[in-house]
Amino acid sequence: MFTKAIVRRPCKNMTQGITSANLGTPDYDNAVKQHKQYIEALKNCGVEVTVLEANENYPDSVFVEDVALLTPHCAIITNPGAETRKGEIAEMRKILSKFYKNIEEIKSPGTAEAGDIMMVGSHFFIGLSARTNKEGANQIISILNKYGMTGSTETLEKVLHLKTGMSYLENNNLALCGEFLTKPEFQKFNILKVDDDESYSTNCIWVNGTVIVPKGFPKSKATIKKAGYKTIEVDVSEFRKLDGGLSCLSLRF
Ligand code: GLY
Repeated sequence: MFTKAIVRRPCKNMTQGITSANLGTPDYDNAVKQHKQYIEALKNCGVEVTVLEANENYPDSVFVEDVALLTPHCAIITNPGAETRKGEIAEMRKILSKFYKNIEEIKSPGTAEAGDIMMVGSHFFIGLSARTNKEGANQIISILNKYGMTGSTETLEKVLHLKTGMSYLENNNLALCGEFLTKPEFQKFNILKVDDDESYSTNCIWVNGTVIVPKGFPKSKATIKKAGYKTIEVDVSEFRKLDGGLSCLSLRF
């Protein structure tokens, strides 16, 4: 169960965020509205939400998930692979010190973004991507081992972050799409297949038995409901324009 979440309000400079989406420039006012709805959805799932103020220095700073990996035993401050995001970690370290006694960090030349890391109980799948390198993944695995947890790596071919293509929804249920569907290491899960035309919705979040799903993907929503979950839809279209999804918008712990 999660009791807490951390989010950061979108900044006006989000229009300068990194993107490959080709969906146009995000509308800041709409993003602010959508972000408030996202916070409400988290609260409806029973978590206490810490809301950080917008940071105009970092256009992508609304995507707080990438800068820290939160585990039951420690927090790991990452070292984002995107140059324009590296400065986001300093403030996050201060904030997490209020919640965690054990704070570790990834050091250069290791890079990692936690959008590339999926927790399944005490095991963590780590995507090797343009943002997370082998050295970063090795550092994460060493830290996890130190606290009695484990990690393994997965090489990404097409997607930005590992969790662009998969979300663990507890109870052995794994929402999965595209390049990951046939990978042997995921066949032990009950795979909730996401169709290519709804692939964006693979990034959804389990929060205390409810799954928050992006608005506008009816087939995925039906699949998740059929697997036994209550769902809450949140429109995150403005964040999608920056390659961001539901999970990227919060740290849940
Ligand atoms: N725009 C989010 C990211 O690239 O990290």
